[in-house]
Amino acid sequence: MKVQFTETVLRDAQQSLIATRMPFDTYEPILDKLDKAGYYSLECWGGATFDTCLRYLDEDPWERLRKIRKACPNTKLQMLLRGQNLLGYKHYPDDVVRLFVRKSVENGIDVIRIFDALNDLRNIQVAVDETLKAGAIASGTICYTTSPVHTLDEFVKIAKELEKMGVQTICIKDMAGIMSPKEAYELVKAIKANVKLPVVLHTHSTTGLGFMTLLKAVEAGADIIDTAISSFSGGTSQPATETMAYVLRQYGYDVSLDDKLLMDINKFFKDYRGQCLDSGLLNPVVMATATDALNYQIPGGMLSNLVAQLTAMKKLDKLDDVLAETPKVRADLGYPPLVTPMSQMVGVQATNNVLAGERYKNISKEVQAYIKGEYGKAPGTVNPELIKKVLGDEKPITCRFADTLEPGLPAAREYLGDRATCDEDVLSYIAFPQQAEAFFDKRDEKRNRTFTYAIKKV
Ligand code: CO
Repeated sequence: MKVQFTETVLRDAQQSLIATRMPFDTYEPILDKLDKAGYYSLECWGGATFDTCLRYLDEDPWERLRKIRKACPNTKLQMLLRGQNLLGYKHYPDDVVRLFVRKSVENGIDVIRIFDALNDLRNIQVAVDETLKAGAIASGTICYTTSPVHTLDEFVKIAKELEKMGVQTICIKDMAGIMSPKEAYELVKAIKANVKLPVVLHTHSTTGLGFMTLLKAVEAGADIIDTAISSFSGGTSQPATETMAYVLRQYGYDVSLDDKLLMDINKFFKDYRGQCLDSGLLNPVVMATATDALNYQIPGGMLSNLVAQLTAMKKLDKLDDVLAETPKVRADLGYPPLVTPMSQMVGVQATNNVLAGERYKNISKEVQAYIKGEYGKAPGTVNPELIKKVLGDEKPITCRFADTLEPGLPAAREYLGDRATCDEDVLSYIAFPQQAEAFFDKRDEKRNRTFTYAIKKV
């Protein structure tokens, strides 16, 4: 049996360990080897890479993608897309979503992993449809979480619907690293028994379950696993590529990775990791195992956010109360998976409830929008009292929220005028307006300088 690997070092691994701050120039020299190592795909774009390119690295994300494509002609390039939210947190109109997907494929993407934080498939439908039209691979994604409403049957139902939508692979996304080997085995078995598509497993090493979870998932029939080259693996990142390859080969699986090239790739990123440790960009703590997420049933990232929030307010003594309140808020909201932006919303609301001394005295704007149905359909039932408190006699939205939005491209095009040199610029602006405008300004400055210099030379 063949098991294939998606290498995450260029996206999720660096996002999880060093806040996505790896510039293109840093990893350019190793792209040729990554391309030849035998991976199923290289996850290298989407997620937080787009935002950090514009905000911190002074890079055009689209140009980065074209450069990766040029350096990697043999391996599929993969990106992560939050359905109707693209790479941000709000819902975009369909014209924007379609153009974003089409331009991603035109600039070099082969595989788009598409998810919705609530597993409301209406929110990924348009992105999936456009991915297929553009001739790329749509990986329909299930956000994994545990709750009374997230049963094996429910997950299988989602997988079947994804298959009906026409996706080519099903990805199980365990963003918090809380999926146990047993749960992975049972879930992959159940999906494989009901759906004919290849199954991909994505997890994180945060709680220490990751390696075991991937192994049991493969035993249950998973076809592709997400791993990170060892020097950028472990902790909040993915399990290590080389380790999984070693183990799976011993069990007789066919792993088509080139070990010599993996050693070179690892050496390269090990040197870079040393620089990151020296500069403080990489905090060694994130590479360690933290089992808090298992004890509290909330992701590690969310726990550290809560601690930071309470510390800033000098209320850290309330941490135990907030941790006890968090699952109650989640239940009131119908058990949303605790992935961005739901994890922040639930955390902030739990904190408000505790600090105000009265539950839902202050309801955040985001939670109100969620209750109105602007994020999609909650997995379970939202507490009716809470609905009444927010909406009064008004009814929540039951349609797909994007259906209420006007097209977004015309206004953005008109606003930018000549400052946008192509559709990609317009999309950068729509996705991250302030960051994109600041980037355009800097780019214009640079161009003007070069132009003046050229005239002087003449
Ligand atoms: Co991840």
